[in-house]
Amino acid sequence: MVRDDDIPELVALAQDGIHDPAEMPFFFPWTDAPSEELPINMARHYWTSRAANTRDKWSLECAVRRDGELLGVQAIDTEHFLVTRTGETGSWLARRFHGQGIGTRMRTAMCILAFDHLDFEEVTSGAFADNPASLGVSRKVGYRDNGKTRLKRRDADRAVLRRLVLQPDDLIRGDLRIEVEGLAEVRAFIGLDG
Ligand SMILES: CC(C)(COP(=O)(O)OP(=O)(O)OC[C@H]1O[C@@H](n2cnc3c(N)ncnc32)[C@H](O)[C@@H]1OP(=O)(O)O)[C@@H](O)C(=O)NCCC(=O)NCCS
Repeated sequence: MVRDDDIPELVALAQDGIHDPAEMPFFFPWTDAPSEELPINMARHYWTSRAANTRDKWSLECAVRRDGELLGVQAIDTEHFLVTRTGETGSWLARRFHGQGIGTRMRTAMCILAFDHLDFEEVTSGAFADNPASLGVSRKVGYRDNGKTRLKRRDADRAVLRRLVLQPDDLIRGDLRIEVEGLAEVRAFIGLDG
């Protein structure tokens, strides 16, 4: 989980740049904020997300590290999980780490966690049609197309959101194996056990 100690490093990554400023990959354009507002905005986001976690609506936001170095965040968001057994993945990497296959590995890891350890029955994603990197990750992990929606992006830009869905049997695991710690506490918290 993203912890308070991770937040200054995540801010530094975001201030360094997550994407071309001319583009906007996020539904909520949080990277458009002036650089000096990112520390409080990001701290508020992670604190709010953590404090708002309940059985009915929870997010697992994980810090992504390689050899100890922080690279970005891989998250999954759910609502009414005990009924729906679905959740939406979301992620970002600092721009200097793009294009090395890390996005594919961290999304695959989250999907293995979801299906093998947290009793998900499907996982969804959504990416703007002009975000080939996110769509590339979804394709490589095994998601299938699940429709399109028109959305307003930034002030007046009309963007097409491509929806994607992954079934457990479609997950492309590659050579990735994961080790999980703290599972019993998480399963109890989200109402799966006990
Ligand atoms: C989306 C993101 C996490 C992907 O991570 P990544 O490590 O760059 O992706 P990968 O290196 O695993 O690439 C996955 C596939 O997409 C392809 N791809 C990546 N960037 C691409 C681009 N700009 N154009 C075309 N294809 C691209 C890769 O080639 C790869 O396919 P291949 O192995 O068949 O060549 C990362 O680009 C990112 O943080 N982007 C900004 C934030 C964002 O868009 N978040 C998602 C919002 S929905």
